[in-house]
Amino acid sequence: MSESTPTLRAEMAGIPTYKPGKPASASEGPAAYKLSSNENPYPPLPGVMESTLAAAAQLNRYPDMACTTLTAELAERFGVPQEHVATGTGSVGVAQQLLQATSGPGDEVIYAWRSFEAYPIITQISGAKSVQVPLTSGEVHDLDAMAAAITDRTRLIFVCNPNNPTGTVVRRAELERFLDQVPGDVLVVLDEAYREFIRDVEVPDGVELYRDRPNVAVLRTFSKAYGLAGLRVGFAIAHEPVAAALRKTAVPFGVSQLAQDAAVASLRAEDELLGRVGALVGERARVVAALQEQGWTVPETHANFVWLRLGERTVEFAQSCERAGVVVRPFAGEGVRVTIGETEANDLFLKAAEAFRKNG
Ligand SMILES: Cc1ncc(COP(=O)(O)O)c(C=O)c1O
Repeated sequence: MSESTPTLRAEMAGIPTYKPGKPASASEGPAAYKLSSNENPYPPLPGVMESTLAAAAQLNRYPDMACTTLTAELAERFGVPQEHVATGTGSVGVAQQLLQATSGPGDEVIYAWRSFEAYPIITQISGAKSVQVPLTSGEVHDLDAMAAAITDRTRLIFVCNPNNPTGTVVRRAELERFLDQVPGDVLVVLDEAYREFIRDVEVPDGVELYRDRPNVAVLRTFSKAYGLAGLRVGFAIAHEPVAAALRKTAVPFGVSQLAQDAAVASLRAEDELLGRVGALVGERARVVAALQEQGWTVPETHANFVWLRLGERTVEFAQSCERAGVVVRPFAGEGVRVTIGETEANDLFLKAAEAFRKNG
């Protein structure tokens, strides 16, 4: 047997590993609720189980590679040409395809930090260099600093709106001013995974911004508000040639028929969806108000989670939440992100937060 090992690309060394939110488990106490992955606490929308089970009867067949029905329904829903819709294995899959299509060794990719933790991973895989621009002291994207970071090597810029994990947003005027400064040959990706939870009318819908800007792509997902995280389906809305490049970089048959049919059924259950999202937004307001009452500083969140900057006490806080029955998402040394979940879970979290403040 040969002693040597296959040569891997240099970029493979040191790629940070994506840390999924810890599951709720009984191993260290009664942690019954998972508030660590920004999932939706509701079960699939009406019609989803039926269409998924029907699709399961055809598991011996490949799915529709072009996601024809889903693409058509999305195009109609957003009022865009079908050619501008590109589906993928979750919006993180589509984000990775966007990098494959635009960026490689010698190129630069700009994004705020801290932001979605997949950005550094997928950027490094592409071979491009990450240029991380710190959030402002208010935990918001520093768009002026991001514009200043653009060089002639910049190929792609992520703007995560609302930002994961802080929940903060950039509003219309500042985002338009930023987009006006970005050269036309640099792709701006508006990652709107949490779009449905926004209630502030000053936060622009990326789909409106993309319309007359060929260098803007919008990312959306069925994983959050639509509650299909387990099925892996997301999409981009982008002009040609970006959308065409997404079709070229897609893993063939990546989006299963179960995922496609479930996404279509979810789109058709929009009234129910809006009701559920409304209830979560109500819970968000309740949780934020209670935290503020307890004395916490909470950045204004527009997503289905809250961010507490705990610094050195982050891990300790996460452990005490876990003992109280809720698993949250610690970013060691920085802060804790807590998903808005079912009412009982939110209550347990609030109790744990209050006890931590009192005893801390
Ligand atoms: C900002 C952001 N973008 C994209 C994603 C990826 O979602 P998915 O790949 O499930 O569509 C997430 C998930 O946490 C996210 O927070």
